[in-house]
Amino acid sequence: MLTLGIETSCDETSCAVLRGRDEILSNIVSSSLFRHKPFGGVVPEIASRHALEQIDTVLNEALEQARVKLAEIELIAVTEGPGLIGSLLVGVSFAKTLSYRLEIPLVGVNHLEAHLSANFIGKAAPEKFTGLLVSGGHTLITYHEAGRVTILGETVDDAVGEAYDKIAKMLGLEYPGGPLIDKLAAQGDPRAFRFTRPKQDRRFDFSFSGVKTAVLQEVQRIKAGAPAGAPLPEKFVRDIAASFQDAAVSWLIEKTLDAADSKGTGDIVAGGGVSANSALRRRLTEEGSARGFKVWFPAGALTVDNAAMIARRGIELYENGRRDGLALTGIPNLKMA
Ligand code: KG4
Ligand code: ZN
Repeated sequence: MLTLGIETSCDETSCAVLRGRDEILSNIVSSSLFRHKPFGGVVPEIASRHALEQIDTVLNEALEQARVKLAEIELIAVTEGPGLIGSLLVGVSFAKTLSYRLEIPLVGVNHLEAHLSANFIGKAAPEKFTGLLVSGGHTLITYHEAGRVTILGETVDDAVGEAYDKIAKMLGLEYPGGPLIDKLAAQGDPRAFRFTRPKQDRRFDFSFSGVKTAVLQEVQRIKAGAPAGAPLPEKFVRDIAASFQDAAVSWLIEKTLDAADSKGTGDIVAGGGVSANSALRRRLTEEGSARGFKVWFPAGALTVDNAAMIARRGIELYENGRRDGLALTGIPNLKMA
């Protein structure tokens, strides 16, 4: 079966063609990131305009690279949510039109579930697993068994990716801050600053707003002692990056391992933009395997927002009997469970 995946939940416009569950024939991504950089974050109106302008071209490129004709596509999978409403509606409308015209089934996909399913392309998926979903908008620990998802914990305030981006902004770095902080952290001292571990009522919940405020106070302290407009000292920026990353990654790992222990699953599956983080990948793999877990991270290009993961999740849902019709619409706050 040939499946077309369509992803337009945020600033990326992507189309992919999968043969069967496991073979990616193409996975084209057009990012509008360069258009948002001057604003220090994603501007929803610009993101949806970009999707509208690009989606035709991206589809044609995906078909061309896959050497597949539109008429050969047998299933369409599209991101239903969560995401920005304008961007979501571009993808969903486009997908519904294609499905109607080609008279082929349509499946709406949860973007967060797709981030985790990205791990399973070309591999045998575990029967049950503990999920760690870390992105710009979400931080969740989940439990998956027989197609059912339970949320074990989530952030009570900022998502971890959002904390990365906001702290980067305070440090005078470009958007998105995650990759930059990741790079700078490798050159800094993770013990230069100590950030208080947040306490949560629910065991597997997270909070990242406290560390953000603590960084802001450090930045203000440095700025107060320097001439107006002076850039922050490079060593300070590297040490904050290293100390924040060490704290955030430690909290994520500790709770994920404890959650996996509590559920007795042998597999931990990570996904979302922040799962590209080098420290998270290295330490969760090491510390997880030391405690007897198999830890999964998506392959490079499948970590960021892309349509191959949407197609893969769509196939899983289709095989479980899911079908959507023309009533499908974008749901900005779509939940995982
Ligand atoms: O999943 P994603 O592409 O978009 C959302 O669905 O939110 O995640 C984007 C987030 C941004 O906050 C970005 O700063 C973060 O992922 N990110 C990283 C890294 N690469 C991307 N955070 C930490 N370390 C990285 N290497
Ligand atoms: Zn994402």
